[in-house]
Amino acid sequence: MRHTLSTLRKTLAGGRKLAMLTCYDASFARLMDAAGVDTLLVGDSLGMVVQGHDSTLPVTVDDIAYHTACIARGAPRAFLVADMPFGSYHEDAAQAMRNAVTLMKAGAQMVKLEGGAEIAPIVKQYVLAGIPVCAHVGLLPQHVNAVGGFRVQGRDAASAERILADAQALDAAGAAMVLIEGVPEDVGRRVAESVGAITIGIGASGACDGQVLVMHDMLGMTDRPARFVKDFTRELAPGEGNLIERAFRAYAEEVGAGRFPAAEHVYAATGDAAAAYGG
Ligand code: KIV
Ligand code: NA
Repeated sequence: MRHTLSTLRKTLAGGRKLAMLTCYDASFARLMDAAGVDTLLVGDSLGMVVQGHDSTLPVTVDDIAYHTACIARGAPRAFLVADMPFGSYHEDAAQAMRNAVTLMKAGAQMVKLEGGAEIAPIVKQYVLAGIPVCAHVGLLPQHVNAVGGFRVQGRDAASAERILADAQALDAAGAAMVLIEGVPEDVGRRVAESVGAITIGIGASGACDGQVLVMHDMLGMTDRPARFVKDFTRELAPGEGNLIERAFRAYAEEVGAGRFPAAEHVYAATGDAAAAYGG
């Protein structure tokens, strides 16, 4: 039986946190599913890790739909989330609805969109149409040109308060999930503690209801990984079974039990070491 929002909530009520990974094809989806990864995200990170671009901006709705259909065929159990790519919900309500519907028809159970309180009307529109929403706050990779790089957000009081207000506005608009990326640990924790939605952290806080990593990062395939990345292929004891599936299983277990992220994977509120996202 495939996970739904209510079975994800049951998992949380049972004292397990939620493990999410990005996924782009059926073979990895099958291994993640078998390893107990609760939810798979077709992230627009595919623009970087699959297509080889240096940002997520070139990714299209058709790209995400294609990869969503691929992972839906591979994973019988995991909850499936698909990213709304750059510019796919900013023209008008009709464009926003048409593109989200395309991803749901491809097999997504939820769409994820980057933005703050200003996109609350789109969240409401989706929820009214029966499209569950994951809001994405904090570091927004689709804003890389506006920000001038991938930089930890919420490092001063004003920006931290804005992220908190954004998360609360999106929660109030009906987002069932809020993903928090690239913020100091205390900002991530405050978001996790102040919204009713399921919270998923990446470079945020262990206080979130769950965690997500980009698959290629947690398999150790990335050149200069960010602080929040752990290579789960490193500590595998000799043993039976496919190495990649065992790395996924270790991830699902460490996230589920609240052992990942550790202190070394989160950002401090102050200090130069926390300023740059990568490295
Ligand atoms: O595209 C992506 O991979 C994401 C991350 C937050 C995991 O959105
Ligand atoms: Na994304």
